[in-house]
Amino acid sequence: MTRSWNTMEDFEAFLNDGGIVEVDDAMPEDYRKAVFTFIEMHANSELMGGLTERDWIPKTPGLRHKMSVLAKTQDEIGHGHLLYMVAADMGIKTRTEMLEDLFAGKSRFHNVFHYKAETWGDQVAIAFLVDAAALASQQAVFKNCSYGPYRRILKRIISEEGFHMRLGEDRMMRIANGTDLQRELFQGALDRWFWPSLQLFGPDSKPGDLLLRWHIKSERNEVLRDRWVQKFVPLLQSYGFSVPCPDLTQDEDGRWDVGPIDWEPLKATLAQGGPDSKRRIEQAARNWERTQWVRTAMDELAVPA
Ligand SMILES: [Fe+2]
Ligand SMILES: [Fe+2]
Repeated sequence: MTRSWNTMEDFEAFLNDGGIVEVDDAMPEDYRKAVFTFIEMHANSELMGGLTERDWIPKTPGLRHKMSVLAKTQDEIGHGHLLYMVAADMGIKTRTEMLEDLFAGKSRFHNVFHYKAETWGDQVAIAFLVDAAALASQQAVFKNCSYGPYRRILKRIISEEGFHMRLGEDRMMRIANGTDLQRELFQGALDRWFWPSLQLFGPDSKPGDLLLRWHIKSERNEVLRDRWVQKFVPLLQSYGFSVPCPDLTQDEDGRWDVGPIDWEPLKATLAQGGPDSKRRIEQAARNWERTQWVRTAMDELAVPA
């Protein structure tokens, strides 16, 4: 059934009542574009994150960890596939157009995937800090998301991201209980990844943020970011690691404050100018070209409808 709304006020009243929009509804174009852009960026981030994991398959130490990196790579690429399908169904860009824009450096993906994972310690920090931040953001969308197809697909994605976070905890505890060298390795990674992970939540939400107004996001960026800080600062310290915040303070209620946040690194990543943006995008584009033969073969095998 195709539903339509006469005015934006009617549509917003529907959303405020907990209404769920479906793909064949005649939704306002601004809403369609906002949801599409949000899902496209999520899809791109899953794909770029999956490619980072893939890079580590040959370098991962030991069979146990290697199996988990293989599984995580598969999960992240799978999340990308699901999200590109949901985004393509919105009729703004095809899946191929989205991928081509990504590889041409024309569309965005999360800041953390513009950095390079230098050591195994970085991979541990990514699974522990980045996956937890991504999971918190996705849970906040899932909780109250007004776009039905995205909400349903998030249920599956979130369940797998929960595993990634547990995997990160497990890796972190092993490294924390390891040798001095291992602890140093993780501390170095923490120094590199703490701030990008925190910045994944973005700057404070602006008043009138349409994603909040249209029930795509359910919580303000600063609320999610603060919750992450209150969890991870004491957790990292309890394992004997230092949090790389020179202005870190704790108030009398025990709440942590990381001090002023420099948003310039985040802005650089949004303009594809992060420390590893160029190499990452070029590598992904090369990968797309090299695998063209698979898509050609699949098209030739396809049975005409
Ligand atoms: Fe994922
Ligand atoms: Fe993940």
